[in-house]
Formats: sequence, C-alpha cells, structure tokens
Amino acid sequence: MTPRARAVGRSFADVYDALYDNPIFIARRTDFILAALGASDGLLLDAGCGTGRQIDELQARGCEVIGLDLERQMLTIARRGGIAAPLICGDLRRLPFRAAFTGALCLESPLAYLLDDDEFMVALRSLRRALVPQGRLIMDTYDYAGTFWPESMGRMRAEIGPVRIVESHSYDEQTRVWTMRQRFAMDDEGRTRRFQVTHALKMRTPNEYAAALEQSGFEVREMLDGYPNLPEKRIVVVAVAR
Ligand SMILES: C[S@@+](CC[C@H](N)C(=O)[O-])C[C@H]1O[C@@H](n2cnc3c(N)ncnc32)[C@H](O)[C@@H]1O
Repeated sequence: MTPRARAVGRSFADVYDALYDNPIFIARRTDFILAALGASDGLLLDAGCGTGRQIDELQARGCEVIGLDLERQMLTIARRGGIAAPLICGDLRRLPFRAAFTGALCLESPLAYLLDDDEFMVALRSLRRALVPQGRLIMDTYDYAGTFWPESMGRMRAEIGPVRIVESHSYDEQTRVWTMRQRFAMDDEGRTRRFQVTHALKMRTPNEYAAALEQSGFEVREMLDGYPNLPEKRIVVVAVAR
C-alpha cells in the first residue's frame, strides 16, 4: 500500500490517513473481501471510499474498482496519494449506476452516517440497483457501543503520528445516535493548526442491518462481529443481490 500518512489541512479528510494508518487491517480486510466476493474479476464499487485506502490494496491485488464519496476533499487526497481508479463525488443514496458492479463495498461506517431510517433504506436500495444479480455487498460499521460503552465514555487524548486528538463520545439512547467530537491539533511548518469535527452515527444492531438488507433485495450470507484475525470490533455483513 502506498505510504501517505501525512496530515496537513483543516478537515477530517486531511487527518484521515494519519488516524487510520493500519496496513495490517487493510490487508486482512482485503483477504476477507476477496474471499467473500469469490473472484477478483468484475468491476467493484467502493461506496464511501474516503481517501481510497481500500481501493489502493484492491488494485494492488488485481481488482478493477471505482470509488465514490460524498466529501470532495477525501477524493482529492486519494488522487494526491496516487489512487489511479475513477473517483466520483456522489451520494450512496443516489448512485448513478444500474447493474454495473459484481461487488459493492461500504466500509468503515458510511451507512451509519445516515441517521434517518428511510434514508438508510434508500441507500440500501441504491446499492442493490448498482449490483448485478448475485453481486455481493460487503459492508462494515465501527462498533462504537461495543468498543467504548461504558468504560471509555470520558474524554480521551491521543497522539497519532503528527496529529494530537482530544476525543469525547456520547450516546443518546432515545435516538440511538452516537456522537463523537474530535478536536485536532497538528504542527505544520512552525504553526499549529487546530480544528474540530463532530460525527453523528446511528447505532443499528446486526439484526436490524440483516432485516433492512433483506427488505432491500439482498440475501444475507455472513454476519460477523469483526474481521478474522483482527482485534477491532466491527459489524461486518456479506449480502448477495437477489
Ligand atoms: C469513516 S470514512 C470510511 C472511508 C473508507 N471506506 C475506509 O474504509 O477508510 C466514512 C466515509 O463515508 C463517506 N460518506 C458518508 N456518508 C456518505 C454518503 N451518503 N454517500 C457517500 N459517502 C458517504 C464519508 O465522506 C467518509 O469518507
């Protein structure tokens, strides 16, 4: 994988690669994806591709991938990092594709950013339309509740590469929205740059993901609480387009 854990700027995209600089995670997740797809031929969509870390590894293993993300800055960083795949700025609720892909990936929580359940269903149907029949969807979401609740709900400080972070988490049991506030500071040519990001993510259970996928034209094949041989907790689902 291309090394590019740099962080300069003022957006989440600018610090993303430094925060998630975990080549072992990407390599093992790729092993899982390729096994779940059953083949590396065919066109893949990485929906919510971020800075393209997964695309990079899939291309290195011979896959053809198109990336899509809502945040233009994520794609700018992907291109700057050398991702040669087509990258589209777009919304996974309105994918401009019909029966175009043998596999779709939605990794590291893009679906959890959809707080509204109707919008969530719209996104699943949009992913289904983008796939050929028998195409596979592999999705994962970070298990915030499993990871942080209740021991680590206070304020956390960390230094990851060039980035200093103060992070706090809260959970609203009524709305089931997890809020993560991150304050970043990093030194850039003698100046300290600071900015804040707030993430709001809807916590859905594995059963809720399974039911929503079944209602959206998928058959759920596998449901895991993390990728094999990795300690991180995730809700991981493999589903087949009916
Ligand atoms: C935590 S990042 C994960 C990025 C990448 N999949 C990875 O594994 O590193 C979540 C990404 O989902 C994108 N995203 C959130 N909502 C989206 C939507 N409705 N359509 C497309 N992308 C979305 C965000 O912009 C962000 O890049």
